[in-house]
Amino acid sequence: MSDERLWTFFPHLRPSSVDDLRRLYRRWQAGAAPQAPDETWENWLCLLRTDGTPVGGAQATLFSDHEAMVAYATYTDYQRRGYTREAISRVLAHLAHDHGVNKVRAEMDRRNEASIGVVKALGFTRSSQRAGANDLAFELRISEATRE
Ligand SMILES: CC(C)(COP(=O)(O)OP(=O)(O)OC[C@H]1O[C@@H](n2cnc3c(N)ncnc32)[C@H](O)[C@@H]1OP(=O)(O)O)[C@@H](O)C(=O)NCCC(=O)NCCS
Repeated sequence: MSDERLWTFFPHLRPSSVDDLRRLYRRWQAGAAPQAPDETWENWLCLLRTDGTPVGGAQATLFSDHEAMVAYATYTDYQRRGYTREAISRVLAHLAHDHGVNKVRAEMDRRNEASIGVVKALGFTRSSQRAGANDLAFELRISEATRE
């Protein structure tokens, strides 16, 4: 989690110490921000089935309108092996089946080719909804994700 390459597009979020990382995990575990009572957060640590090695993390923010936002990071040594695609595909199925989510969004810096590759591989398309100034927004109707 301290590898700078993981934080290229959001360096301000990079934990500066183990204590900082603990605080970040505690915040995520809280399940929602007090100032956003309509949101619920879910976070997963992604482990290899074979030996439990942690390879990355996935996040979902659930909104009250059956929509959700996903985010993800896979540790540098484990990238380009399909782990993020597999993890987010499982997250999408969970959001549909367990939370009735019907639309999922993802936003990323427009230079983040890896993240764009992930959403395109999962069938997301460009969203008409506004994203941050340097960001692109993609969306997926969840039935498309669970039809297989
Ligand atoms: C984005 C990130 C999670 C991708 O993880 P990954 O495990 O390497 O992705 P996968 O191996 O599952 O690849 C999924 C798809 O994206 C494509 N992809 C992955 N990295 C890519 C890259 N650098 N350039 C172009 N395409 C890329 C893959 O080719 C694959 O497509 P395919 O299945 O059609 O072949 C990883 O690069 C990362 O953690 N980056 C730093 C954190 C970050 O930016 N997170 C996103 C925040 S919005």
